[in-house]
Amino acid sequence: MKIGSQEHRDAFCRHFTQTYTEYDPSALPWPELDDAALYRLRSVPFWEEVFYTERRAGAIVAAFTETVADPILRDALALQGREETRHAQLIRVMIEKYGLDVSERSLEDISDNIERRFKDFGFGECLDSFFGFGLFKLAGQSEFLPKEMLQIFEALMYEETRHIVFFINWMAYTETRQGRGARTILPLTSLYYYLRAIGRTIGLARRGKELNDGQNFAATQVSMFLDGFNFHRFLEDCYSENSRRMSAFEPELLRPRFLPQLAVTALRALRLWNSRSKLESDVPMSR
Ligand SMILES: [Fe+2]
Ligand SMILES: [Fe+2]
Repeated sequence: MKIGSQEHRDAFCRHFTQTYTEYDPSALPWPELDDAALYRLRSVPFWEEVFYTERRAGAIVAAFTETVADPILRDALALQGREETRHAQLIRVMIEKYGLDVSERSLEDISDNIERRFKDFGFGECLDSFFGFGLFKLAGQSEFLPKEMLQIFEALMYEETRHIVFFINWMAYTETRQGRGARTILPLTSLYYYLRAIGRTIGLARRGKELNDGQNFAATQVSMFLDGFNFHRFLEDCYSENSRRMSAFEPELLRPRFLPQLAVTALRALRLWNSRSKLESDVPMSR
């Protein structure tokens, strides 16, 4: 299948629409939480940011959809916009059900330069999802949240995975049709957008820290998550979870490749580093 062809467009749009799942966030099997689980859920400092991000995502995708003339792309994009809006609804249901202390900040103005915003948002989702896959696995292992709750979020993770596969294919399709890139997105283009996404994430983390200073994501909560945390293992988890989740998609579709490749390089370097330091500590110092 030639990337940038109508066949390619039809394949990634068809796959996206065919894997859609219908559900109503308020009718999901939300579990009753005991005091300890409720306390843990309420102490998570980033729900407000997640809520805002999903609402902003819905608005960006919907506004970008309006500018797209191709009816096949337009339908698929409209569906993604509805899914993002449903993510925001899902978070809203959780906030209300469990009495989370989260306010609804008003959305920033997203009206200018909407294609650029959509691309920034798409690469941002690729970045968030790659590390989100590892975090999600960690959350499951640490039993920070009950299984029933994680199952609800599993549905959301699957949709985000569909979004990034759709986005990467849309991006390659668009770049190829505009005469840039061939068969895939140029690495420099990816690097450019990932650096922008990382910049935004750092800004977010700074703002989050300011907002959360003095709040009660107590040491016990963090340690439950991070006890025995090992960056090497975390990166391995991100990589293997990414591969596992991506294997559910049709082989002919493109997948995000930039971050997994970067992770492989980093893991090799870490392995080399570890084996060197082990060798040095094994060899007795000669005098
Ligand atoms: Fe979302
Ligand atoms: Fe998404």
